Amino acid sequence: VEIGGVMVGGTVCRVIESNDAGLAPGDYVAGYTGWQRYATAPAKELRKLDPSAAPLSTALGVLGMPGLTAYFGMTDICRPKAGETVVVSGAAGAVGSIAGQIAKIQGGRVIGTCGSDEKAAHVTGDLGFDAAINYKTTPDYAAKLRELCPEGIDCYFDNVGGEMTDAVIRNLRTHARVALCGQISQYNLEQPETGPRLLFQFVVKQAKLEGFLVFQYSDRYAEGLRKLGEWLKQGRLKYRESIVDGLENAPRAFIEMLRGANTGKQLVRVSGE
Ligand SMILES: NC(=O)c1ccc[n+]([C@@H]2O[C@H](COP(=O)([O-])OP(=O)(O)OC[C@H]3O[C@@H](n4cnc5c(N)ncnc54)[C@H](OP(=O)(O)O)[C@@H]3O)[C@@H](O)[C@H]2O)c1
Repeated sequence: VEIGGVMVGGTVCRVIESNDAGLAPGDYVAGYTGWQRYATAPAKELRKLDPSAAPLSTALGVLGMPGLTAYFGMTDICRPKAGETVVVSGAAGAVGSIAGQIAKIQGGRVIGTCGSDEKAAHVTGDLGFDAAINYKTTPDYAAKLRELCPEGIDCYFDNVGGEMTDAVIRNLRTHARVALCGQISQYNLEQPETGPRLLFQFVVKQAKLEGFLVFQYSDRYAEGLRKLGEWLKQGRLKYRESIVDGLENAPRAFIEMLRGANTGKQLVRVSGE
């Protein structure tokens, strides 16, 4: 983002004026119009929303980019089989909370990692994960993972990177699949961390690691949204949102999100709608 530019971000907007036959004033759309009160956008870059189908905010979370990221990373890359052990880092966040629930739907045994006891209680109590690790109070991640996953880890959906990922790699099982979704612990570092170099584990365990961007699946979004919508209706997917009021509070909300203040998708409500 250039200095003085509009901060990028996914948005839900109400149409005020339209030159496109498919969109009328009063319609709701999801797009990437950024942190501003009013925007113009080509109709083909907007997704028309049905406010009676699901709350509009879900178009930015479980039925939007984060939900699709969880869906494709879990079903296309991790591909857990029934009874396999799945670890999801960043488990209480927008992507991780959905990724872990999808692994449960696919029959996995799911362990989440997150940054507070409250979040750990949420992912096990509300979202149905089998166990959770509070990485801020657990001294030895690898030992804790060994205790919770005595047979090893079949799938890892990684949102955070760093020491937690090192510990997971030490506990991978033969033929494990790792979906590299994000590395949030590394984004604000001024120098790259020099961690243990564990890639030989991928040789020994004949494991796969695949990084991905949700956008590479754009021609399959309809499939993902249909599946996520079905699971939501069936009550098999639950979601939380952390909502802050006022566009002027968006920068603080963003910084607080990076520090872990949010549970589920972090949203900013601009005009009371
Ligand atoms: N590949 C893609 O296409 C794609 C698409 C969307 C998002 N992503 C990535 O997916 C990840 C999750 O994104 P999200 O939107 O769902 O965010 P989120 O998980 O809702 O929010 C970020 C969370 O990261 C955790 N965190 C912050 N610093 C951390 C650290 N040093 N170590 C471990 N956890 C830390 C915090 O939770 P705690 O309280 O648990 O620390 C915070 O709540 C990010 O890495 C993001 O870049 C990738």
